[in-house]
Amino acid sequence: MKGIILAGGTGTRLHPLTATLSKQLLPVYDKPMIYYPLSTLMLGGVRDFLVISTPTDLPMFRRVLGDGVELGLHISYAEQPQAAGIADAFRLGADFIGSDPVSLILGDNIFHAPELPDVLWRSLTDVDGCTLFGHTVSDPRPYGVVEKGADGRVVGIEEKPSRPRSSEIVTGLYVYSHDVVEIAHQITPSARGELEITDVNRVYLEQGRARLHSLGPGSTWLDAGTYDGLLSAAHFVRERQSRGGRIACLEEISLRLGYIDADACHALGRKHKNSEYGRYVMEISSERNRGRLEHVAE
Ligand code: G1P
Repeated sequence: MKGIILAGGTGTRLHPLTATLSKQLLPVYDKPMIYYPLSTLMLGGVRDFLVISTPTDLPMFRRVLGDGVELGLHISYAEQPQAAGIADAFRLGADFIGSDPVSLILGDNIFHAPELPDVLWRSLTDVDGCTLFGHTVSDPRPYGVVEKGADGRVVGIEEKPSRPRSSEIVTGLYVYSHDVVEIAHQITPSARGELEITDVNRVYLEQGRARLHSLGPGSTWLDAGTYDGLLSAAHFVRERQSRGGRIACLEEISLRLGYIDADACHALGRKHKNSEYGRYVMEISSERNRGRLEHVAE
């Protein structure tokens, strides 16, 4: 299964934090931001990744994630020379996608939703069109906003409306069948010169091929692309981890999914042995009685 992580852009909402460092490499408590979207897709069964970023930042992502082999993954990279919009990912990633379904996740979106791995996995194995993931927020104006008809079906999506028609927004996680590449080539740039993901989603909506999965009340979705969002995300991770376990621990996910064995996991933990993160990875590698995660397959 294939997944694209979009980690480009100039991160101007976070300047001067992002003047020299890519937004998606900023720390979210104990790990770089990109660990979170990567872990979300891994939990949905994705093993083959394309990371898209700017020519300047891409070498840093390579340093952080490498080719993925140590985690039992395959990670490749593509340059996005200028901010051309989210849907540009499908033009850049056309060869990578080929004839497979693909999921796309924005590198600053953090999900913690118990049902998500299962839903994502099912969507990726059974998609004809697109699956979108909705979440209710108090201020929907900076996002793509869902409009539903009386029967609860999605009838429209509006990008950053000044008067939102609902409080449910489309999060930065999407699943598409391979024809998304064609659709991304058909749409035209918006007034701000970008290929909007909402325009792609509208095509599927008009074709009656768009599904929306509204994330349940027990789920958390955070946009870490603002000062407050970044801080809230760090607090959220710290709070959850203080109860035990770790969110977005890539080595643990690989171990539980059976991509790596306990010895390999322990060796990966040893690389960071002076940090709590590294010690955690070493510890869980010896808890051999932990079961594999359910619902996840290649
Ligand atoms: C993008 C999408 C928007 C979506 C949001 C989720 O907005 O255009 O529809 O709701 O991501 O994070 P952006 O973050 O590029 O402003």
